[in-house]
Amino acid sequence: MAELMIFPDSQTRIEKALGQFVEIAQKSIHKRNLFSVSLSGGSTPAPLYRALAAPENRDKLKWSHIHLFWGDERHVPPEHADSNFRMVKENLLDAIPIPDENVHRVPAEMPLPAAALKYEGELRAFFKGEWPRFDLVLLGMGEDGHTASLFPHSSGLDEEQRWFIANFAPKRGEWRLTLTKKAINAARNIMVLVEGRSKADMLGKVLTGPLNPKDKPVQLIKPVDGRMIWLLDREAASQLPDDIG
Ligand code: 6PG
Repeated sequence: MAELMIFPDSQTRIEKALGQFVEIAQKSIHKRNLFSVSLSGGSTPAPLYRALAAPENRDKLKWSHIHLFWGDERHVPPEHADSNFRMVKENLLDAIPIPDENVHRVPAEMPLPAAALKYEGELRAFFKGEWPRFDLVLLGMGEDGHTASLFPHSSGLDEEQRWFIANFAPKRGEWRLTLTKKAINAARNIMVLVEGRSKADMLGKVLTGPLNPKDKPVQLIKPVDGRMIWLLDREAASQLPDDIG
C-alpha cells in the first residue's frame, strides 16, 4: 500500500522529500555501494534539486557512488528550455561533485527511435537484471493524470517488454521519451511529488476514484517489490478525504 504524506506548505514538503532522498541514498550506498535514482522533470521537483545542491545537504552524499538517470525527457537538445536535463543541470548538477560518467543523460537530440534504444541500452548495461531496479524513482503527476511521459491513451501505456520508449502524447501532439510502467514499478522506492490546487481534482480521482489507468496513467504505478510514497501539499490534497493519509 502506498504511503501518503500531506504537508502544510511547499517548504515542509521539500524538507521531507530531501530527507527521504538522503536517507534512501545513504542506505543504498551502505548496502550496495551505490545509489541509482531516476529523476523527474517538470517544475515540481526543482526546489528539491536546489535543496540537494545546498552545501549542507550536498556534503551528506558520496556523489562518486551516485548514478543519476532521467525518468523521461522531451525530444529536445540538452540546452533547450524544455529539457529536463537542463532543468536538473541548472538546479543540481552544476553544484555537485558528481563524476560525468555517473550522469546518464537521455540523448534526446537524436532521432526518437534511436534515442530510446540507446538509452535502453545504457540502462541495460547498468542494471543487470530483468528490469532496472532503481533505488529511487522520482515522479510527478500532470493535471491529466500522466506521470513520467506516460500520457492518457498513449500507446506506451501498453508496453510490456521495453524499459525505455518513445511515446506520443495524443492531446499534446508531441513525442516524448519515457521509462515504461514496468521499468518504474521495478524500483525499490518510488516517490511522487504533487503540489498545487490545479492537481487536486485529478489527485482525488486517482487516489479515491475508480481504477482507469488509460485515463489516469499514474494509477499504473505500483512497485512490485518496493515502497511508494506520495508527498503532497494541502492544496493538491484538498479533494482527498480527511482519513486518507
Ligand atoms: C515532465 C515530467 C512530467 C511531470 C508532470 C508534472 O517531463 O514534464 O516528467 O511527468 O512530472 O508533468 O509536471 P509539473 O511538476 O511541472 O507540474
